[in-house]
Amino acid sequence: MSQGQKLHVNILSPEFQIDPHPFLKRLREEDPVYWSEETRHWLLTRYEDVQTGLRDAARFSSQSSETFVVREEFMQHLRPIITHFSMWAVMKDNPEHKRLRGLINQAFRPENLKDIQLRARQTAEWLIDQVQDKGEMDFVNDYAYALPALLFSVEILGMDRADLPTFKKWSVDLAHATGRIDNLEIMLKGQEALLGMTDYITRAIQSRIDQPREDFISFLVKAWREENKLTMEEVVAQMVLLLAGGHTTTQNVISTGLLAIFKHPEQVARLRKNPEINRQAAEEIYRYTSPAQAPTRIAACDIELGGKLIKKGQGVMPMVVSANRDASVFERADELLLDREKNPHLGFGSGNHVCPGAFLARMEIPIAFEVLFRRLPGIRPKSNHEDWNMNLSFRGLSTFPVVWS
Ligand code: HEM
Repeated sequence: MSQGQKLHVNILSPEFQIDPHPFLKRLREEDPVYWSEETRHWLLTRYEDVQTGLRDAARFSSQSSETFVVREEFMQHLRPIITHFSMWAVMKDNPEHKRLRGLINQAFRPENLKDIQLRARQTAEWLIDQVQDKGEMDFVNDYAYALPALLFSVEILGMDRADLPTFKKWSVDLAHATGRIDNLEIMLKGQEALLGMTDYITRAIQSRIDQPREDFISFLVKAWREENKLTMEEVVAQMVLLLAGGHTTTQNVISTGLLAIFKHPEQVARLRKNPEINRQAAEEIYRYTSPAQAPTRIAACDIELGGKLIKKGQGVMPMVVSANRDASVFERADELLLDREKNPHLGFGSGNHVCPGAFLARMEIPIAFEVLFRRLPGIRPKSNHEDWNMNLSFRGLSTFPVVWS
């Protein structure tokens, strides 16, 4: 990207993945409805257009499991993953979306979330106990990933704790497949991880058929076998969606949120003095980090937007990561201001598909930071190196070594 030339932005390039904001600013200003040849999607970058893309389900369909494969020649190798994605609630329009979303919402019903704040705090304290004397950790693996994994996957969904390391590898490989859509090798690795996950979940389902428990898998098994509300394949797909989607996003907010805090020394000083993160501060962290940066849609009809014609069947990405830095909506948009007052960010999406896990994330993240800064007030990055994960769908860090004394 250079001034004066026709704007070309490759959102799959390492430069964009490391710091997308200068590119997105130029797109918002010069070409806000932009055809990205590399991803074969229209990129919507202004707040208002992103909101329209997320909310207007009649024109912007969510049935985008095929358009995310950018090269025709990849298609024949990726049938299993495409078929699986097409069963995710996030890839459905109504009435199927409403049916599946109603069931997913049950994972977040009050009985499941009883004492959840207490359990989140105990889990965060326990994780710090494991590392406190060592004086260093990989923040991504030892805290940012482990907290949502233990809390949601083990406590709420009913996964076995001992299986978390295997599951983490699968989640990383699958997330890469959705975020590196130009690379067949990475997508095939993601497909292999998906097969591992589906096999694991199928075995968990069988064990609940033999012996029902008080967990979410048992709930979905009952909805399938006794109430005929979904198929067995759909049970597996919603479990993968929840496990992979829930972990990766929360992990990325916690780790990139900490990095953002370190880059704003006045915020570090504030947290060292008073580690409490109130709701307002947490919202600012979701806005600033925006890890679910580019949800996908497909044009259900010809659409005129920003002077461009989006043709029926073309892919569209409402770039949440860009909307959340739009200076026409957010003052001092590129700064992390933990006391920001007006903050209508789109970090959890908007409309029918708005994130059902937002309640959990909103509860978990303030606790994660409060426990961290109270227990390790001297925490700081081990070096200046930033290990970004090169993932379009789930922007985050692969590793983040930190130290304290
Ligand atoms: C800070 C953490 C999180 C962020 C930033 C986030 C972000 C988002 C966004 C932007 C969407 C909308 C996608 C679209 O419109 O296509 C979404 C949907 C979704 N999220 Fe989250 N999410 C987070 C945490 C979670 C957690 C913890 C869970 C589950 C435990 C979860 C499960 C889901 C599911 C199942 C959907 C699909 C909903 C539907 O299609 O109706 N998310 N999330």
